[in-house]
Amino acid sequence: MEFFTYQQGELYCEGVAVRKIVERFGTPLYIYSSQGFLENYQRVREAFAPLSPRVCYSVKANSHLAILDLLRRQGAFFDVVSLGELRRVERAGGSASQVVFAGVGKEEAELWEALEKGIFLITLESLEEARLLHQVAERLGQVAPVLFRLNPDVSTSTHQYISTGRREHKFGIPEEQLRSFLEKEAFHLPYLLPKGIHIHIGSQIQTPESYRAAIERVRAFLSSLSSSWDWEFFDLGGGFGVDYEKIRGTSWELFASSLLPCLKELKLALLLEPGRSIAALAGILVTKVIRRKEGKNKIFWIVDTGMHHFLRPSLYGAFHRIWPVVAEKTWEEEEGEETGDVVGPICETGDFLGRDCRLPCKVKDGDLLAVFGCGAYGITMASHYNSHPLPAEVLVQGEKFYLISPRESYEELWKRELLISPDFSFPHLE
Ligand code: LLP
Repeated sequence: MEFFTYQQGELYCEGVAVRKIVERFGTPLYIYSSQGFLENYQRVREAFAPLSPRVCYSVKANSHLAILDLLRRQGAFFDVVSLGELRRVERAGGSASQVVFAGVGKEEAELWEALEKGIFLITLESLEEARLLHQVAERLGQVAPVLFRLNPDVSTSTHQYISTGRREHKFGIPEEQLRSFLEKEAFHLPYLLPKGIHIHIGSQIQTPESYRAAIERVRAFLSSLSSSWDWEFFDLGGGFGVDYEKIRGTSWELFASSLLPCLKELKLALLLEPGRSIAALAGILVTKVIRRKEGKNKIFWIVDTGMHHFLRPSLYGAFHRIWPVVAEKTWEEEEGEETGDVVGPICETGDFLGRDCRLPCKVKDGDLLAVFGCGAYGITMASHYNSHPLPAEVLVQGEKFYLISPRESYEELWKRELLISPDFSFPHLE
C-alpha cells in the first residue's frame, strides 16, 4: 500500500482522510490518488528506460478525462479501442497524433475519422480490416500508418476471459496469414504503411515467461520474412499484473530484467500499452454497510455498492482486499475476527465484492469499508443495472481533493428514454 495508508487508525489517500472526503460526497465513492497514477506511469518508463519506451496508457482501464489529462501532461500517449475513447483523449487536451487505435471490430467510420484526424498508428487485427483500411485511406488520399497485431499463439496464466494470445482467441492475425499478406499482397496496397508489429497476450499477467515466448515468436517471424519492410516499432501491449492481495504494484524489475534482452534484439522502437499497472492501485471504492445480516450459517455485510459499480469480483472471481476505513489495525496486523461475504443490493447471487472475507467484528451498520485496487476496470465497467445511480468520483492531490464526477442523479438514469404514450411528445418515426 502506497498511495492509501492507515494513519492513527484511519485510511488516508495521500494527505487526506478518506472519512473526510466521504463526509463531503457520500458513498459509494471512487477515490483516486493522482500521485498513484503519476508514479506508476513513471515506473513503467524507468523500468524499460534503456529502450526509451513510448508509453501509451490504455484508456479502457480508467478513461476519466481528469486522469487522461494528468497523464497527458506527463507526456503519455494513449491506446484506444473506439471512437469514444479517441474523442475522450481529444476532450482531455490530447490529439489523435498521440494515439494508437486498436480493437477487433473497428468500423469504417471509425477508421475514417481516425485517419482524417492524423492518428499516430492503427493496429490491424485482421487482413479483412487491412483491406478495408486501404480502401478508406485511398478515398481519403492519405496513407495509413499501421501495426499488425500478430496472434503469437502463446498461453498465459490468467483468467480465461482476459487471456488473448492463443490461436483460438479472436485477437490478432495468425502468423501464416500475415506472412503471406506481407509477401504477396501488401506491396499492392500503397495506402497502407506498415510500421510495426503489435502483440497483446492478455491482462493481469504476473510473470514474464509468456511475454518472452511471444517476443521470440515475433523475432522469428520478422527474420523469416523474405520481403523487406522498413519496420520501426514493436508494440508489446499491456497486461502487466498487480498484486491485489498485498496491494503491491507491478514487479517492473522482474518484467524488465527478463524482457529487455530479447526486446533489444528486435532493434525496434518500443511501445507499451499498460492500463491496470498504472491505474488499479491508484483507486479505491468506498462503500457503506447498509446492514449486517446473519444468514443461517453465514454473515453478510450488505453494502451500498456491488457488481453494478465494480464488476471484477463477479465477472472473474477476482479477489479485492476489503477493510474498514476506520480501523485500529490494518489487515496485515490483525486477521479480522468475523468471516462473511461483502455483498451488494443487486438481485443476483453473483453480486458480491468479497467472499469469505475476514473483517474486524466491530464492523456495524453505517460503517465505511474500502475496496482496494479499484482504479482500473472499475467505473469503466460499471452499469445501471437495477437503476442505481453511478458513484461520485474524487481525485486527490496531496492535501487537496477534487470532485471529478458528481454522483449521478435519478433523473439522469432515464434522461435518454422517451415515452410513447399520448400524454408525452416524442419524435415520430415514419
Ligand atoms: N492493449 C490492448 C490491446 C488491450 O486489449 C488491453 C486490455 C491493454 C492494452 C491494457 O491491458 P492491461 O495493462 O490493463 O492489462 N476487464 C479486465 C481487463 C481486460 C483487459 C482488456 N484489454 C479486468 O478487469 O481484469
